[in-house]
Amino acid sequence: MSLPNRVTLVDVGPRDGLQNEKQPVSTEHKATLVHMLQDAGLKEIEVTSFVSPKWVPQMADNAEVMAAITRRPGVRYSVLTPNMKGLEAALPTKPDEIVVFAAASEAFSQKNINCSIAESIARFAPVVAAAHEAGIKVRGALSCALGCPYEGEISADQVERVVQLMKSIGVDHIGVADTIGVGTPRKVQAAMERALKHYPLVEVSGHFHDTYGQALSNIYACLELGVHTFDASVAGLGGCPYAKGATGNVATEDVLFMLNGLGIETGIDIDKLVDASAYISSALGRPPVARVARALLAKRAG
Ligand code: HMG
Ligand code: MG
Repeated sequence: MSLPNRVTLVDVGPRDGLQNEKQPVSTEHKATLVHMLQDAGLKEIEVTSFVSPKWVPQMADNAEVMAAITRRPGVRYSVLTPNMKGLEAALPTKPDEIVVFAAASEAFSQKNINCSIAESIARFAPVVAAAHEAGIKVRGALSCALGCPYEGEISADQVERVVQLMKSIGVDHIGVADTIGVGTPRKVQAAMERALKHYPLVEVSGHFHDTYGQALSNIYACLELGVHTFDASVAGLGGCPYAKGATGNVATEDVLFMLNGLGIETGIDIDKLVDASAYISSALGRPPVARVARALLAKRAG
């Protein structure tokens, strides 16, 4: 069995990670984090989200962050836009890609964005059309694809249904997201296979939260299917290490260490990535969650 030779890592730390931080993080820290990630070789960075600041106050400086970053040719900068209001606010900031998100679980859709799955798709349809009109690619995140905090098990049939809905409105890329980190390798493969029935390999990615410590195994399981794009969060940002049960995305450093060991190219420099991890962790006043960053920083200190 051969694994992909090359993998693209999308660092979602500035968005998915920092959105959960209760303490203020300055625009300057956010922009510097993006700069350090691109210095480390990341070619795709999810910078911020254009969502309601009442729901997610940490992302209220979205336009300021977009204005503060110095862009590097060849790097794709994406932002989350849940509705037309978000897209209209995002367009002047010139993102390369926007992200819309729907849930595989009806209950989660209601609790998270206050509407049914069908309503959320109807809300995204004009967002997708307007983004395409502006020449912007659209990524669709499929939340709770491996389990839901309210419904429990989510079947591959449920995943496929929403993948098809996303496809029907013209979403270009599907990110299969394990929002609560309960997926295990064979179940992840079953969900991915449903996405791959409707999208080519190059337009399917995995987004794994590491709540139950399964994310690296799940990424390996995806590699076995040929999937070669994964979201990850520098330092393992996200959730709160002091809040019971809440954790972030799999750490970019941890994924990179595994990929390096497998001889899979990413174009990312692990030492520079650890610098970015140390930088944002020190701004937040706590050590990185990433095991690899902790190990390499301890080695440096020694
Ligand atoms: P809505 O339908 O307008 O309803 O927004 P609302 O009652 O929630 O709106 C509240 C207020 O927000 C209103 O203002 C709106 O105008 C305003 P008010 O009239 O009270 O002054 N508003 C906005 N403001 C700025 N930008 C906007 C926007 N939209 C509305 N775009 C909506 C529904 C879903 C947009 C809203 O509830 C919201 O923004 N929720 C936040 C959702 C969110 O950011 N979730 C986290 C990101 S998703 C994620 O992390 C999962 C992912 O990582 C994959 C995975 O792991 O599963 C992607
Ligand atoms: Mg997420």
